[in-house]
Amino acid sequence: MKAKLRVLAALLLCGAFLCGCQPKQQAAEPALVLGFSQLGSESSFRIGNTKDIEDKARQYGISLMMDDANQKQENQINAIRRFIAYRVDVIAFSPIVEEGWDVVLAEAKNAGIPVVLVDRTIQTDDEQLYVSQIGADFSREGVMAAEYLIRKANDIGRERLNIVEIRGTEDSTPMKKRHEGFLDTIAGDQRMNLLDSVDGEFLRSRGAECMRLLLAKWGDQIDVIFSHNDEMTMGALPEIEKAGYVPGRDMILISIDGGQEAMELLQGGKINCIVECTPKLGSILMETALKLKAGESVERVIHPTERSFSDYDDLSGLEPRGY
Ligand code: AHR
Repeated sequence: MKAKLRVLAALLLCGAFLCGCQPKQQAAEPALVLGFSQLGSESSFRIGNTKDIEDKARQYGISLMMDDANQKQENQINAIRRFIAYRVDVIAFSPIVEEGWDVVLAEAKNAGIPVVLVDRTIQTDDEQLYVSQIGADFSREGVMAAEYLIRKANDIGRERLNIVEIRGTEDSTPMKKRHEGFLDTIAGDQRMNLLDSVDGEFLRSRGAECMRLLLAKWGDQIDVIFSHNDEMTMGALPEIEKAGYVPGRDMILISIDGGQEAMELLQGGKINCIVECTPKLGSILMETALKLKAGESVERVIHPTERSFSDYDDLSGLEPRGY
């Protein structure tokens, strides 16, 4: 009987080998369960960030509960409460705004679930409400945008440059820090004049609306457009052209993110400078979550390395951006 079974097993294995089938693997136990509340899908940065987190969770063997808050803080709060009820191992989220998280994060703390902030940060008096923040140095991004402009002003020898700013979501970290970093850097330069600053909410549609409004109000007084993300820049561009100006020549355009579509516009000369804001934060998040699960300490703040690209660079051999 035993001999018959052995022959049968050998035949089955042989058959599987010959037809190229792999023996069915038992699904592995996930390393941990991570609840992630994404704030929405407003830009190529955001879509790239969601994809990167999903890809990296798979690669690291982490079970991911992903929730899209569709631009609403209350949806993020509800998602965090669901993660607590589910008793996930780690909660991570990209806070749409900085204020208003204390109550729900205190609930996570009381449940003993560590919280990681991804991309943006929060304002709180209780530093223990989150363990780590992984995201760009937004202030440095504003500084890099201003440094490009100062270099350009030196080159073109202008005595005055009128700037309009299209800002990201009110009370969000990138909006506040990019604005501050930019203004602090141009503050000592008498040539720089901020004509206007408007809220474009990081949306392409709002970038177009803001640009129409700014052109109607200031017309050809505008020398420079500093836009807090590529999406708004790409909304503004057709409006500039419709009004009869050549973007990149009649008006200097400075943008932030560095997604594929915007980088091609930079290569084509319609945008003058793009400061990179990388959405690829997934690996650092997964490594941080694994350390937390293992009871190890993690870094309080982690900034990825970022650079700027401009019409001063050789842009011919750029790698595909992947977002
Ligand atoms: O928080 C990062 C910012 O959010 C990106 O620059 C912008 O595109 C996104 O919506």
